[in-house]
Amino acid sequence: MPSKRIRNSLIGALCLIALGAIARPISAWAVHLLNRTNSETAAQRNDARAREAFLAVIPVLKHPRCLNCHATGDFPRQGDDSRVHVQNVRRGIDGKGKYGQKCSACHQEHNVAGLNMPPGAPNWHLPPAAMPMIWEGRTPGQICRQIKDPKQNNGKTVAQIVEHVTADKLVLWGWNPGEGRTLPPLSHGEFAQKFQEWHRFGAACPN
Ligand code: HEC
Ligand code: HEC
Repeated sequence: MPSKRIRNSLIGALCLIALGAIARPISAWAVHLLNRTNSETAAQRNDARAREAFLAVIPVLKHPRCLNCHATGDFPRQGDDSRVHVQNVRRGIDGKGKYGQKCSACHQEHNVAGLNMPPGAPNWHLPPAAMPMIWEGRTPGQICRQIKDPKQNNGKTVAQIVEHVTADKLVLWGWNPGEGRTLPPLSHGEFAQKFQEWHRFGAACPN
């Protein structure tokens, strides 16, 4: 019956109108929530506290467990004196070593037990030659700006940097470095929390 078809499409149209009427306030509410989150973040911006939080992570970044992969030169370091790595191992273009001296030839996904045995974690390697992420010899301000720069940090946002220092396996290795190796001066929890604070207060850098 044509009249039934007309009635059905009328009901359909009414439903669409009703949906539109509901959707509009819902999306307005969502936008309101988003704005509120933004202004809350902005309200928390505090450059002095952000700088303070960043300065607190520097002794970890400069600790040999981290610095030995984030040092000057195209080679890893080893030990608490950050001496040149055994066998003159080199960075290589991708950070995974050169020719017959790939990191994976000696380093496994876990530490090998015993003194002076190769430490290990999944994907053990240096940052690549084109983006070496060097902290040695740099001031806290320089390190901060470099870590924030997507062109020097492999395209990461500040939130992704926080995620990296919180969960990355090479970072976590610093607190489980194998026999005979010292630990960074903060616990991993304290360290990650300082990075989170730095982010939350607006990620300002020391001068
Ligand atoms: C075995 C070598 C190695 C060790 C040890 C190591 N890192 Fe890294 N680190 C890397 C590599 C490789 C990258 C690049 C990862 C990427 O871009 O995906 C990196 C990247 C980073 C970054 C992000 C990018 C940037 O601009 O610096 C941070 C932050 C970082 N490491 C912190 C640490 C900290 C903190 C420690 C010590 C607790 C540490 N790393 C120990 C190899 C290492
Ligand atoms: C020929 C084997 C071999 C190769 C290849 C090799 N390593 Fe090592 N590496 C070792 C051994 C063994 C140690 C431990 C030395 C010690 O504790 O006295 C070590 C230690 C290290 C340490 C020191 C950790 C610390 O904080 O003291 C780092 C960092 C490191 N290697 C990075 C690398 C990277 C990155 C590559 C590849 C570019 C690489 N290694 C290639 C054998 C190797």
